[in-house]
Amino acid sequence: MARKILIVRGHPDPAPGHFCDALVTAYREGAEAAGHAVTVLDIAAMDLPYLRSADSWKLPAANADIRHAQEAIARADHLVIVYPLWLGDMPALLKSFFEQVSANGFVMALGPEGRWRQGLKGKSARLIVTMGMPALVYRFYFLAHSLRSLERNVLRFAGMAPVRSSLIGPVEKGAAFRQDWLGRIRALGAAAE
Ligand SMILES: Cc1cc2nc3c(=O)[nH]c(=O)nc-3n(C[C@H](O)[C@H](O)[C@H](O)COP(=O)(O)O)c2cc1C
Repeated sequence: MARKILIVRGHPDPAPGHFCDALVTAYREGAEAAGHAVTVLDIAAMDLPYLRSADSWKLPAANADIRHAQEAIARADHLVIVYPLWLGDMPALLKSFFEQVSANGFVMALGPEGRWRQGLKGKSARLIVTMGMPALVYRFYFLAHSLRSLERNVLRFAGMAPVRSSLIGPVEKGAAFRQDWLGRIRALGAAAE
């Protein structure tokens, strides 16, 4: 069944040529060839201020790019987030994007009865994370804390399921390593997983 897929390019650098860009393209090509509808949101192209207060988090987003992102997420069945690991975590601009896109109860909100309302229920997600270190070191030595936080504190808490991940490193290992991963990501796109 054709799915509506939203890919978030979570690299802060707007310059093309990052491995993240090749991964976005591979996922998109695989998905479109299989008949899925793909939209790409590039956070580097957005003019994002920082969220400064809990009060502003409760209001509708003032930023037009964020409102556009909320609409795109609302339309999607499946969210793919591609980012480089920076200082063991997602880049600050991507964190800022998540803080702002979750404003106005869009991702989660406490209802009047004191129960959390899950704003992204019924949608699935895949996180694609590139890194300089071997992915196994991040997963088993560093315990993938930042990835698990995004999965559990944000995406699953907002009702998304399943939430899957692809950890890719060391990215400087060579062309064959990258080609292998581009093929795997293209196949995931085709399967809309
Ligand atoms: C500011 C910065 C911090 C980084 N921190 C880490 C890190 O903590 N762990 C790691 O394995 N790689 C780290 N790296 C390497 C990047 O993860 C790697 O360059 C990136 O995944 C390559 O993807 P790209 O070509 O799309 O930028 C860092 C790179 C930069 C620029």
